[in-house]
Amino acid sequence: MSRRRLLATGIAGAIATAAGIGSTTVAASDGPAPRSKFANFVKTPWGAGEHLTDYGAITTYNNFYELGLGKEDPQRNAHLLKPRPWTLSVDGLCAKPARFDIDALIAAQPLQERIYRLRCVEAWSMVVPWIGFPLAALLDRVEPLGNAKFVAFQTLFDPKQLPGQRSPLLEWPYVEGLRLDEARHPLAILAVGLYGEVMPNQNGAPIRLIVPWKYGFKSIKSIVRLTLTETMPQTAWNRQAPREYGFYANVNPAVDHPRWSQKRERRIGEFFRRDTLPFNGYGEEVAGLYAGMDLTTWY
Ligand code: MTE
Repeated sequence: MSRRRLLATGIAGAIATAAGIGSTTVAASDGPAPRSKFANFVKTPWGAGEHLTDYGAITTYNNFYELGLGKEDPQRNAHLLKPRPWTLSVDGLCAKPARFDIDALIAAQPLQERIYRLRCVEAWSMVVPWIGFPLAALLDRVEPLGNAKFVAFQTLFDPKQLPGQRSPLLEWPYVEGLRLDEARHPLAILAVGLYGEVMPNQNGAPIRLIVPWKYGFKSIKSIVRLTLTETMPQTAWNRQAPREYGFYANVNPAVDHPRWSQKRERRIGEFFRRDTLPFNGYGEEVAGLYAGMDLTTWY
């Protein structure tokens, strides 16, 4: 895979040089979409010392079933998704339900870089430098009511843009949920980019959730709607296989998936497997959210 990418970059680079195109042009080796950068974001201490997974791997090894089942399918089909114009609605139990134009929303939020580990339930992991803002900042804008206990999230439903929605693998649209205190936790972000660039479609453009202490399937992509609810919302994978995928889905090496172990993981780009850490290594920050809960039952 990387050899092909290297070749493609080499060829594109040679063409760019021959045509006298400046160094700001990024070779289209990772798909046809132009790659534009965010002008302003602040770096944060998260992920200091982590070795970043390379951009090519992050954008070609994806899970986004609406764009295909193979790991490279989302990148191949990424052009079908049109992330602009895009509206994000926030409704349900809040004083100020609202519909946000994605660019107006992004312009109104100071952006941060958060380098986080991403641990997929399939036992591989990456380190990704996301660009985004705290989910709590968006929730504050709509003023959740006292009886709001959960946040439900929904991906775009449009089988033309997301052709995987024509097959009944999951009940579409993809939905996810968090308890409100989890959603308000400072580690939970809405990401709009990675590596300083606007979010590639295959990674969940234009806006996706990132909850780094949970298995990757909680980090729902291409979100169009958030709803504040009193009762626990349904989630796509739990609906599909409740014994295999719980609502909480906190990374937990002590609770195996019914069909495989969760004790170790394959970090993309590394040869040897490494130990999986409770809460994906964010236990100091988030374990308190689950005080008194049996995480074997609430997997
Ligand atoms: N969101 C939607 N809408 N559809 C998906 O198939 N896959 C999930 C999650 N969000 C998925 C999704 C899974 S299983 C993982 S591991 C992560 O996205 C993968 O994110 P990445 O492709 O950016 O690494």
